[in-house]
Amino acid sequence: MTEKKRILVTGALMPAVGERARACYNVTVLEGASESSAEAIPKAAQDHDGILCHVNVHLTGDIIRALPHSVKIIANHAVGVDNIDLDAAREKGIVVTNTPEVLSAATAEIAILLMLGAARRAGEAERLLRRGDWKSWSVDFMVGTEISGRRLGIVGMGDIGRRVAKAARGLDMEIHYHNRRRLPEDKEQGAVFHDTVEALLEVSDVLSINCPLTPATRYLLNRERIARLPPGAIVVNTARGPIVDDAALIDALRSGHVAAAGLDVFDGEPRINPGYLALENVFLLPHIGSATVRTRTAMGMRALDNLDAFFSAASPRDRVV
Ligand code: DGY
Repeated sequence: MTEKKRILVTGALMPAVGERARACYNVTVLEGASESSAEAIPKAAQDHDGILCHVNVHLTGDIIRALPHSVKIIANHAVGVDNIDLDAAREKGIVVTNTPEVLSAATAEIAILLMLGAARRAGEAERLLRRGDWKSWSVDFMVGTEISGRRLGIVGMGDIGRRVAKAARGLDMEIHYHNRRRLPEDKEQGAVFHDTVEALLEVSDVLSINCPLTPATRYLLNRERIARLPPGAIVVNTARGPIVDDAALIDALRSGHVAAAGLDVFDGEPRINPGYLALENVFLLPHIGSATVRTRTAMGMRALDNLDAFFSAASPRDRVV
């Protein structure tokens, strides 16, 4: 019988995923990997064949270069791979995989929740009620905006972006998008393509950020671009925090140029720019886009599929590097 491969897992797995992982591999779980020192991961990875890595664990260039040569694959438990220094992995000959598609529906749901929560002041209203400050009903009490009939601008029309568009069509929104490449008609489904982010912003009553974090999208939503949004726009981010310049968005939320924002991801999370916390017109969630039992299980299974394929000498389906 061949010996089981050894994998280092950087945190908890969903129960069914953990069961499958332990049945097929010798599993070491590194608790607290996201807060551990740069030396801890390479040390824990000694004699391991692969790493199953969570999105809150940053595998920097230094960490990757210090990994033992036995590590041949990093299977990321996420679609985004910005937590991994891909160049360092490439240089070291380490394969990197991700988990696309399986989290698209759950993440799109959160984008719609954030749009509605921000537009209809759900966070503010709930806080008021819980404080015991709901004294009476009046015509101007907690009035917000409705998103039905408004223009939705989507930055990044990949699988998640297209799911957001599909759900938003059900709310009668008019869909506009910017993507590196224009989609074929069957995927566009009538959405209007804009070949620059700037052109998209000008028509985005509601803006949904659904692109990956890359060097090209870091701080994509900066002060100049925010100024191009129609006054009273709503900004939603379920992608990655560093795509938004927090200071600029906070200023726009304070001035009312951006009426409200719904954010599930933050630059430097789990630490949050305190400016957001002081504002009523932001609806905040703690990176729960993919947090359903079905989706998190599917993500873990997909990461294991990639490890299985790699160790059986097939090409992993979701190879990024
Ligand atoms: C992803 O897969 O990139 C998600 O953000 C994790 O929840």
